[in-house]
Amino acid sequence: MKLEILEEVTTNVFLAKYGEKEFLATKSKFKSHYGEKKYVGLREWIPYRSKLAAMIMNGYRLDLKPDMKVLYLGAASGTTVSHLSDVLERGMIYAVEYSARPFKKLLELAVERRNIVPLLKDASKPEEYAGIVERVDLIYQDIAQKNQREIFVKNADFFLEEGGEGLIMVKARSIDSVADPSEVFRRFLSELEEDVPIIGYGKLDPFHRDHIFVHVSDSERLK
Ligand SMILES: C[S@@+](CC[C@H](N)C(=O)[O-])C[C@H]1O[C@@H](n2cnc3c(N)ncnc32)[C@H](O)[C@@H]1O
Repeated sequence: MKLEILEEVTTNVFLAKYGEKEFLATKSKFKSHYGEKKYVGLREWIPYRSKLAAMIMNGYRLDLKPDMKVLYLGAASGTTVSHLSDVLERGMIYAVEYSARPFKKLLELAVERRNIVPLLKDASKPEEYAGIVERVDLIYQDIAQKNQREIFVKNADFFLEEGGEGLIMVKARSIDSVADPSEVFRRFLSELEEDVPIIGYGKLDPFHRDHIFVHVSDSERLK
């Protein structure tokens, strides 16, 4: 069977085909990190495991540049971080995770790659890593916390470069476990809009039910 590239989605990210299987992948010289398949020069990026992959599979396009600096809040064991690390060949990812268990695997990933700085820290206390993290082009947040809007804004105040952007992955149930998800999202978006301009948002279904992504800009902070 032949590996075919169908589309270069953004730098180092491809829609590919192998036999009948179409899939998203990043260009990678590294080994598999979470059971994903490897093809010659490519690593499958599974949308059921990564919300960023789900966002791309749902048609949303993000301009990722190989030299970008990213602050990643809620890195867990590094599933999505591993793909961002493939993409940002000359960039840097500051990966914050406060739970020691997934952090062990994130550490292993950072040992084999030079563009990941793992930080066992609480994302609600950016002052604790302010001496380590530099100004970044993108803040990616996936922390499933009730106060995630406040956490994002606090980190943006510390670290987001002027003209930088943010991506926030929002799980309805983490904000309100009983309300209708569309009402939870409506409230979240209207509150967030008071702090940062929203560039776009969309659902992560069918890969992640009752989740949305929100893409924000810092270029004209509303305060
Ligand atoms: C849904 S998982 C993240 C999955 C990961 N983003 C990925 O795609 O590979 C959410 C993670 O956020 C972490 N988290 C939640 N609140 C946090 C906080 N305040 N500071 C740091 N990490 C936090 C949790 O421990 C958990 O590992």
